[in-house]
Amino acid sequence: MSVHNRIEVMHGVNLDQIGRRDPAIYGGLSFDELQWRIEEYAAELDLQVRFFQTNFEGAFVEHLHTLDGVSDAIVLNPGAWTHYAWAIRDALELTGLPAVEVHLSDVDAREEFRRTSVVRDLCVATVKGQGLEGYREALARLKAELGAGT
Ligand code: DQA
Repeated sequence: MSVHNRIEVMHGVNLDQIGRRDPAIYGGLSFDELQWRIEEYAAELDLQVRFFQTNFEGAFVEHLHTLDGVSDAIVLNPGAWTHYAWAIRDALELTGLPAVEVHLSDVDAREEFRRTSVVRDLCVATVKGQGLEGYREALARLKAELGAGT
């Protein structure tokens, strides 16, 4: 029986700088710490994670293109691209993989422009405003989606 537990955790523009961004909004965690904690959550859930971050939209798109046969699902925090990057939406759709959209902050309770997400309807769920914890929820949601149990 094949196991579907390979999760691609993709962070977009400016997420590598979260340790320098407003701690009241982003929690003050460094990006490395964020990734370590996600790795721990994944291990608890018996999921394999791979990480990718870039500040270049084309690189984000091209990385999505490479996931066929490599990943079973995606945790996606595109940062500000969430709100307008239609090319990322198209590339996500092309993967055909189940994805969960995650935001550290509550994007619906901030500026008006953050209320639009061009990827939301392609995702099986959106988790927002829960900081680091949101990634645990996203991973658990994908595990359920992949039929790997809970
Ligand atoms: C974010 C929310 C976006 O609006 C913002 O541009 C980010 C981070 C979040 O995780 O809360 O860079 O995706």
